[in-house]
Amino acid sequence: MIHVNPHYQKLQASYLFADIAQRVRAFQQRRPDAELIRLGIGDVTEPLPPACIQALHAAVDELTRASSFRGYGPEQGYDFLREAIARHDFQARGAPIAADEIFVSDGAKCDVGNFQELFATDIRVAIPDPVYPVYVDTNVMAGRTGAAMQDRYEGLAYLPCTAENGYVPQLPDAPVDLVYLCSPNNPTGATMTRAQLQAWVDYARAYRALILFDAAYEAFIRDDGLPHSIYEIPGAREVAVEFRSYSKTAGFTGVRCAYAVVPRDCMAWQADGKAVSLHALWNRRHTTRFNGVSYPVQRAAEAVYSPEGRQQVRALTDGYLRNAATIRAGFQAMGLPCTGGDNSPYIWVDTGRDAWEFFGLLLDKAAVVCTPGAGFGRCGRRHVRISAFNSQANVEAAMQRIAQALA
Ligand code: MLT
Repeated sequence: MIHVNPHYQKLQASYLFADIAQRVRAFQQRRPDAELIRLGIGDVTEPLPPACIQALHAAVDELTRASSFRGYGPEQGYDFLREAIARHDFQARGAPIAADEIFVSDGAKCDVGNFQELFATDIRVAIPDPVYPVYVDTNVMAGRTGAAMQDRYEGLAYLPCTAENGYVPQLPDAPVDLVYLCSPNNPTGATMTRAQLQAWVDYARAYRALILFDAAYEAFIRDDGLPHSIYEIPGAREVAVEFRSYSKTAGFTGVRCAYAVVPRDCMAWQADGKAVSLHALWNRRHTTRFNGVSYPVQRAAEAVYSPEGRQQVRALTDGYLRNAATIRAGFQAMGLPCTGGDNSPYIWVDTGRDAWEFFGLLLDKAAVVCTPGAGFGRCGRRHVRISAFNSQANVEAAMQRIAQALA
């Protein structure tokens, strides 16, 4: 008889965004004429940068000729892309990362979800609250937690992120082995300073812990003093793995391309105290389970770093940041405190009431979809996350409707 993995049965019934999509479908059946505006899931709406489209077309044409045809590529990604990433995203900012420390993939969600596979089941894991649910659910699936107790799992160390601490996770009271950090943050939009990241790097070095640093929203940072990569922090090469994505940067949510950075200095330890290279382990996993991102998509990602590509990506992210400013100003004018939206496409709104109730109110009265903060953790139970990923016209219309609904 086939037995189910019992850890999967600890999970909440459905993944947050699938749950929301189902509620939205039910609303559309009830109100088929309502013109819905989606500020929920962080999915981009604007077309790909022209430089990426050109590169995609050219690469597809190469595949039409036997002389330039390519089959399987290197699992870790083509050198042209890995070198462009190392040079532009890291070395140009003084972060010492080499091309062969980059692993190109089809998404940061998969990478950040899969990376925990390299570690023992009994490590202690710290999770900010609120948090991107993938970090929690993948540890539940791996058997690293006990049962769900209401909105939390036994066995995880939760790090509350609230208005009092500026929505930035503080160092834990009891030692942990693995910690997830995300900056600019999903869902709160809060961005960590150099000093805050340095404190975590120092902590990880002292406890031989590892930081999984999710920098999927790095392209939205505009304050010059803020770090874009954890490797701008001294000592981070030994204790941090970083995840990046072209999804929000260059509109690749449907194209799929991302990468993980695993420095050669990063180690985990055997029971007998012997160090094991995480670069070697991840390479082993990646080459076993993955056959690389398609050639045209990697050429499109490379085009992000061309002079035109950089300008176009900047214009895209500037547009979403203008929407974020509109959303933030709108909620503040309604008297609701907000964070995020300045170096991030997400605005975290303190609604002063139950998050799902507020979600339902915006849906029913304004036909606007947001994301209830409760879906990201206990600390989000009175918040909603508003995404700036939509057209300027839709964002302005949504804010007018919300103002009327709450008047
Ligand atoms: C979100 O809305 O949090 C993101 O779109 C999720 C993701 O990037 O997977």
